[in-house]
Amino acid sequence: RTRTGLVVAIDGPSGSGKSSTSRGVADRLGLRYLDTGAMFRAVTWWMLRAGVDVQDAAAVAARVPELEVKSGTDPLAPTIEVGGTDVAVEIRSDEVNAAVSPVSAVPEVRAWLLELQRAVIAEEAALGGIVVEGRDIGSVVAPDAQVKVYLTADPAARALRRAAEEGGTDVAATEQSLLARDKIDSGRATAPLVRADGAAHLDTTHHTLDEVIDQVVALVDRVA
Ligand code: DC
Repeated sequence: RTRTGLVVAIDGPSGSGKSSTSRGVADRLGLRYLDTGAMFRAVTWWMLRAGVDVQDAAAVAARVPELEVKSGTDPLAPTIEVGGTDVAVEIRSDEVNAAVSPVSAVPEVRAWLLELQRAVIAEEAALGGIVVEGRDIGSVVAPDAQVKVYLTADPAARALRRAAEEGGTDVAATEQSLLARDKIDSGRATAPLVRADGAAHLDTTHHTLDEVIDQVVALVDRVA
């Protein structure tokens, strides 16, 4: 079965199950996978390492022309590089967690990554289809995606999953950190987190990962 040209957009807040679901769907359907959150995290890691004050939007914007980001799109082994350095582990640190929302709110960062994201999507979609996860995929990055999903879950469930992924034990602190990010991500002026027109809303609180993957695969089967 060919799914050439297929784009599946999966948006939602931190810990809603986007990454596991997106990778699972891509693996099951033989599609590629793009984690746009990892791109924003890589930019944030680079800014922190360059000593940029991440609360100063003008200072962040001024450094954008120096960026060089590369995303690998294998759903079983996604990779992320910035300036030629593999940062897959570093981008999950507390420092990056705390700085990524303000960096992601800078319009110049978004515009620069938008172009890169669209280039990856166009290339991979032409080769056989791609699942893309983020906050603004269905609304801004790929508004023509054939399948759009908006994933949510109760904050307590999201914090439990994130803490488990990060090997952390302080679930309350994890919940505070992801709620703080949600607030900025949903409230920013440029491309805030929203449910895109036509996106299917799936609440994953009481569902296993396999059940959620099944639901998204069923949506894809309807259109492609
Ligand atoms: O999905 P994640 O938690 O790895 O995303 C990290 C941050 O990146 C998130 O807090 C906001 C930002 N982001 C964004 O602004 N737009 C996207 N398409 C993806 C992520």
